[in-house]
Amino acid sequence: MPFTANRQFKKSPRLLARAEGMFYWTADGRQLLDGTAGLWCVNAGHCRPKIVEAVRRQVGEMDFAPTFQMGHPIAFEFAARVAGVAPPGFSRVFFTNSGSESVDTALKIALAYHRAHGEAGRYRLIGRERGYHGVNFGGMAVGGIAANKKMFGPGVAGVDHIRHTHDLSRNSFSRGQPAHGAEFADELERLCALHDASSIAAVIVEPLAGSAGVLVPPAGYLERLREICSKHGILLIFDEVITGFGRLGKPFGSQRFGVMPDLFTSAKGLTNGTVPMGAVFIKDSIYEAFMQGPAGIELFHGYTYSGHPVACAAGIGTLDTYAEEGLLTRAASLEKHWEDAAHALKGTRHVIDIRNCGLIAGIELEPRRGAPGARGYEAFVKAFENGVLIRVTGDTIALSPPLIIEKPQIDRIFDTVRSVVTATP
Ligand SMILES: Cc1ncc(COP(=O)(O)O)c(C=O)c1O
Repeated sequence: MPFTANRQFKKSPRLLARAEGMFYWTADGRQLLDGTAGLWCVNAGHCRPKIVEAVRRQVGEMDFAPTFQMGHPIAFEFAARVAGVAPPGFSRVFFTNSGSESVDTALKIALAYHRAHGEAGRYRLIGRERGYHGVNFGGMAVGGIAANKKMFGPGVAGVDHIRHTHDLSRNSFSRGQPAHGAEFADELERLCALHDASSIAAVIVEPLAGSAGVLVPPAGYLERLREICSKHGILLIFDEVITGFGRLGKPFGSQRFGVMPDLFTSAKGLTNGTVPMGAVFIKDSIYEAFMQGPAGIELFHGYTYSGHPVACAAGIGTLDTYAEEGLLTRAASLEKHWEDAAHALKGTRHVIDIRNCGLIAGIELEPRRGAPGARGYEAFVKAFENGVLIRVTGDTIALSPPLIIEKPQIDRIFDTVRSVVTATP
């Protein structure tokens, strides 16, 4: 099973059997309030009628069609629709099937772009400690989580990392962007000096790091990264697999933080998690560079299921639902209530930090001596038994509910977290 302790699970399985709106139901019929939008995906809530109907219709009309040297209208229709919610200048989209594939696709486009415009010497890829960019070889290499790498050999050559931005000593209990840490971006200058900037193709970061424990970018940090990348001709890739599609109160994280990358990835909320799909958004000037090369295939890359018609139908149903209900900006109107409810947990037993931005919160617990992660896992199990689905990475509880959540449901999530954390030894 993915990222699961198989033997532990077998002893006491947790099985989800049905979902609707803000809720799951377990196989034995218990209702669970979804505090995690599934796995950061279901931004419009579960089993929304427009999406369900679009998928039903498409699967009966055309189940699959190849996209190598041919196309189908719904893939172009969805590409145009989704580019319509992206920041200006990103009118080109490459479809994948997951966040991991989006990341590897973006890295390959960055490398190929430099080669296409005459800078083939740029081959290095820079990630960040504690970054999560999926589990394929490219994403694993630029990612910064040791447990995800240590079993799998030396990986991709020519990769380096800047330091993470977590700084409990200066920033604990920050509301929104922490005040300290813009200078951590200067590490990129150090790597430019070390490797020579002309060898660096791209830097990839999550605008807000989700999977490694909700690390909100310090004020000024992303701006500084952008500045250094521009100065040295390095492409800046934002991995927006979590931050995309309204999670931070704007359609994308780049818009929330006011910093534009050159490429950005997405998945999850792209189809509301209904059908697996990812997408890489590409700045028009990068796309145009490929179109200046020799005749023939411009990018030797793609997946059998790129632009899958059923996924595109789900995506169109999703965008319709987001638009009709204002979900790409709804988090902004709930953020104050969410933030206050999260920070009301300050002073709760074991809680050493609370972080928030948009409809995301991280609640960091003090690790139990000699058993890191145990306290977090126990809180997760207790919350599950108490009817609320939360997520933990190590000892940090990460909350990211569907964007249709109502205020009393927000209060219920944090009340449950308070009681289960307090009850955890
Ligand atoms: C920022 C980021 N990138 C990539 C991925 C990988 O996505 P997937 O699991 O769909 O391959 C994730 C998954 O959580 C993610 O959070």
